[in-house]
Amino acid sequence: MTDSFDRSKESLSNILHMEHVNLAVPDQKLATLFYVVGLQFTRDPFIMNGVDNMWVNMGRCQVHLPSRNPIAQKLRGTVGFVVPNLATLESSLADVAPYLENTSFSYTRKNDHIKATCPWGNNFKIHEPAPQYGTIDIGMPYVELDIPRGTTEKIGKFYDEIFGATVELKTIHSNECASIKTGKSQFLHFLETDSKQNQYDGHHIAIYISDFARPYEKLKERGLISMETDEYEWRFTDIIDLDTGKTLFEIEHEVRSATHPLYSRPLINRNPEQSNRGYHPGQDNFIGQI
Ligand SMILES: [Fe+2]
Repeated sequence: MTDSFDRSKESLSNILHMEHVNLAVPDQKLATLFYVVGLQFTRDPFIMNGVDNMWVNMGRCQVHLPSRNPIAQKLRGTVGFVVPNLATLESSLADVAPYLENTSFSYTRKNDHIKATCPWGNNFKIHEPAPQYGTIDIGMPYVELDIPRGTTEKIGKFYDEIFGATVELKTIHSNECASIKTGKSQFLHFLETDSKQNQYDGHHIAIYISDFARPYEKLKERGLISMETDEYEWRFTDIIDLDTGKTLFEIEHEVRSATHPLYSRPLINRNPEQSNRGYHPGQDNFIGQI
């Protein structure tokens, strides 16, 4: 018997999973071209399969894209993805580029990642599998949010004291960062920046938590619950300085219990290499870890 295992490394604390980012879009065709054709992710075939909303799967995560024409919501930061092969991705982004002319779409290949911007200006950083992203071959390992200078510690304290989250204060891209663990190899990074903040426009993230009641009570006490959705879900938007009550950053959190019917729902991921020409029987599904 040995007692040399670091048990804390395998502790998820209270936030179990950050499942999706929700960004309203004005045009489903352009959204399909970017997320499904360009980024090669998979449209959820079972839910939101009409023309006014689309859920797009990447591993165990999703981006939700409801139509709100003419509104295009813009996350104030960067969403990180992992895909199996950047060369394949670069080629498919080149394929969709002519269809996305006259939009904000762009992409740049860097050494170890691709920076891509959606038709409405949302920023994504796409990586290949690497130890810092755990064992996942396809997924959403992080969401990076741009916060004002001097707020890192207070935001870390908020997630620690309200949510019982695992919080690490660190430096990323030479900036102070409150890194909140949101699942196995998944993080919400609050990153200090000098750049001017756009006004918050209502986009949201969804997290599942184990202790569903205590964070709710703590936020309710402070008047911060913004929606009582149903028995499995509540929402809040304001991340505050717990000492002064001042709002430090706004982003709606769709907070769900682990008893929510959608928790850990299996998501379909396709093999982007598959096509009708040179079809490989039995290889429609993504093979790899999610
Ligand atoms: Fe949502």
